This record gives sequence, structure tokens and C-alpha cells, in this order.
Amino acid sequence: MTAVGIDAIEIWTGNLKLDLPGTFAPEKGEDPEKYTKGLGLNASSFPDSYEDIVTMGANAAHRLMERKGLEPDDIGRIDVATESAFDNSKPVSTYVAGCLEQVFDGDFHHANKGERKFACIAGTQSLDDAYNWIRAGRNRGRSAIVIATDTALYARGDAGEATQGAGAVAMLISEDPNLVELSAEQGYGSADETDFLKPNQQFPSVDGKRSVQVYLARMREALEDYESVAGDVHPDDFEYAPFHTPFPGMVRKAAMLAYRHVIRDTSVEDELADEIGRQPRPEAFDDDEAFREAVREYMDELKETEAYQEWYAETIDPTLSISREVGNWYTGSVHIARASALKHALESDRDMTGERLLVGSYGSGAQAEIHSEVVQDGWEDEIEALNVESQLEARYDMSWADYEEVHDVHNHDMDVDVEEFTAPESEFVFDGWGRMGERKYRYVE
Ligand code: HMG
Repeated sequence: MTAVGIDAIEIWTGNLKLDLPGTFAPEKGEDPEKYTKGLGLNASSFPDSYEDIVTMGANAAHRLMERKGLEPDDIGRIDVATESAFDNSKPVSTYVAGCLEQVFDGDFHHANKGERKFACIAGTQSLDDAYNWIRAGRNRGRSAIVIATDTALYARGDAGEATQGAGAVAMLISEDPNLVELSAEQGYGSADETDFLKPNQQFPSVDGKRSVQVYLARMREALEDYESVAGDVHPDDFEYAPFHTPFPGMVRKAAMLAYRHVIRDTSVEDELADEIGRQPRPEAFDDDEAFREAVREYMDELKETEAYQEWYAETIDPTLSISREVGNWYTGSVHIARASALKHALESDRDMTGERLLVGSYGSGAQAEIHSEVVQDGWEDEIEALNVESQLEARYDMSWADYEEVHDVHNHDMDVDVEEFTAPESEFVFDGWGRMGERKYRYVE
């Protein structure tokens, strides 16, 4: 069977930066290490006044198409995953296609366009849609573009304000891909949860502490479901495990639980037994609380073992490098985690062809999905082509007063005008409103 998966990716960050330990922490009267060590974040990316989900998504897709030498006729599908949409009817993908038609000859009139919503997991669901479309033989030799784009802004003063971010990831989904093949096997953990939602409002209502617990519970279910179709996961099976990263500290918690799960009944658990004993099993305890307490003690010791720390440093930590500098990109977050991992592999000369990734996506509300990916032999060229580092360095570093202004500019309930902080160059920009309230865009050379 021909492989189907991600042929290429492009990343587009918001052009502004908020320094969390340097600018945010002092204003909040908090220890900078809460951000750098606790949450694991150095900075958030922010959209300048002329940027939004359409400009960032269209800019990423434009770079993707140009780099791959594609014309509109090569694309049979454009799906946008976002939880920051500004229209309940017209999908963001139509705006993006309109932008791209300004710079390419030809049009996307025969491409299917849509918009996917399920909090942060919608980006991965759009990958599934594209995969299924190709597998069903409906693509007529064409590829799909999947764009995950969000302005992840929280209300001022909300605890989530520290985890904001803005950016887009565009992915080309094709037969015989250069980057990764997607597995047919998937596992789900899905339940009706009220932890993070936006009932017809721009900024989320969040129960932050509960959202952390729901993430962990649904991820565990998804992993067990994945194992029920793909077989037990062993820690050595995967080179990297990119997970949805609202902030790196979240993945640190998930990794610990995942490691305990995947070493159970393996030689790793046996080897660790001399050092920290075997994992507590529920049947050995009279009550649940005693079992939980024993698990907590085991985890505290497991965390300190060389085996865990090595696995974390090699398999998980490298997935977090971009996230640390940009914050939460919601739908794009797991896709920048994959890119971070493969960048790390390139920089450390790891031969990844044929190696596997375990990918964990998550969306509040809530659903987790786990699948695996096999790295393809064109991966090095694809990852080498990314210019994410230079984009991150070029961001304008906002003062606290700048941040307050920019947050207001993007607040749909406020009507404020602010001079842009950066000069757009070779990119799409928001260009005001049309007669029916539509947003208009223009390409700036
Ligand atoms: P908070 O109350 O600001 O922070 O909320 P905290 O007091 O819990 O501290 C955070 C961590 O820093 C803790 O680490 C502290 O100990 C540590 P932990 O104990 O949990 O491991 N800390 C320090 N470490 C070193 N030095 C210090 C220091 N001080 C504290 N001096 C919270 C944090 C995540 C709740 C908040 O930021 C929030 O509400 N965020 C938004 C919700 C969120 O991101 N949830 C994540 C799971 S849900 C999800 O991923 C879905 C999502 O992406 C949306 C979607 O799907 O659409 C959000």
C-alpha cells in the first residue's frame, strides 16, 4: 500500500514576542522561574496589528507552495483547523484561498475547503480527513493542504495569560510523502468535559487546574486504546514522542505518567526493581487512597532514576524547543512539537529514516488521540528548509505597554488603533473591512 502522510511543513510565527521571565513576571510580581522552570516557557509569540489567523495561515501555506513548486491545480483540498475563527458561516479556508489566489496564477475553484473545530485537536483531525480522502482514492492525484492557525489569547488577568501564543503550521498531505507516513492505527480518549470552552465568546472560560487533569486522563485512555490496536508500546519503540504542548510543564507531567505505563511488565521495570521496587498494583491494596499514595511515592522515585531521565532527555525534551519560545499555538501546537523533534534529530545527526514517532494530540472539551508516524527518507531536506529560528529572532520584543495595546487591538470587543510594531515584508496583511463585514487582505511585497 502506498504511504500517505505529511510531505512538507511550514511554520509561521506571529511577528511579536512577549518575554515571560523578563517582561511578564515582573509586572505580575512573580518569580521568573515560575515561567522558565514551572511552566517551561521563555516567551510567547503574538500577532502584530496587521496579523490574524488568516494572514498567518496564508503566509505559511504560501511558503509551502512556493518551496514545493506547487500550483493551485495541484491542491484538491484546503482544510483549516482553528479555534480562533471570526465567522460562524464562512470558513477561514476560503479567506486563505483568496489570499493565495492573489499571488499564484490559477485558482482553487475545484478544491474542497472546510474548517475543523475541536479545540486543539482539530489540526490532527484535519490531517485525518486529508489522509482518509487520499486513501479513499478521491484525490485525483492531488495533495491536501492542512493549516492549523490560532491566536491563543486569554482574557487579561486569566491564569492562562502566561500560556498565550500565536502562529500557524501549514502541512502538505500527499501520497509517498517526504517527511512522515501516518499510521492507520489510532487510539482515542474522548469525554464530554467542561474544562476549557468559548461559548460564543473570544477568550476562553478555563478551569486551568482541572484542564491539566483532563488532559492526563484522556491521554491515558488514548494510549490504552492505541495499544489495543497497535500492540503494547515499549519506551525503545519511538525516537521521539511529540505531544500537544500548551506549555512544556504539561508534557513533563504527561511524560512521567506515560513512562510508568509503558515500562510496566517490561525488562525496564525489572531492571529498576532493585533501585526503587516494582510498580504498585491496585490488587495489592485494601483501599484506593493507599494505592494512590504508593503510586505517588513510586513516581517520585522513578523521576530521579537515570533510566527515566535519559529517556526524557532523548525522547521528550527535544520536542519542546519551539514551544518554549512561542507558547501555545492551540491547533498547531503538536505539529510544532514534531518539527522541534525532527530539528533536534537533524542538529544532532540522528539518522531518522524508518524511525518512529509516537504522536499525542489533545483538545479540551475533551479528546486525545494517539497515532504513530514513520519518518521518510526525504525528512532531512524538509526540516533543513524550515526558517523558524530566523523568524523567532526577527520578532519585535514588546514592552509591557506595547503588550497591553496589542492585546486590546486583538480584543473583538474593543475598537482601538495602534501603529504596527514591525514592517510587513513579503506577506499577507489584514487590510480592513468590506461592505458585508468581511475581513480583507492584501499581499505586501
Ligand atoms: P498557575 O496557577 O498560574 O500556575 O496556573 P501554578 O501555580 O500551577 O504554577 C505552574 C507551575 O509552576 C507549577 O508546577 C508550580 O509548582 C511551578 P507543577 O507543580 O504543576 O509541576 N512554579 C515554580 N517553579 C519553579 N520556580 C518557581 C515556581 N512557581 C511556581 N518560583 C495553569 C497554571 C496551567 C493552570 C494556567 O497557566 C492555565 O490555566 N493555563 C491555561 C489552561 C491550560 O493550558 N491547560 C493545559 C491542559 S488543557 C490543554 O492543553 C488544552 C488547551 O491547549 C486548549 C485547547 O485544547 O483548545 C489549553
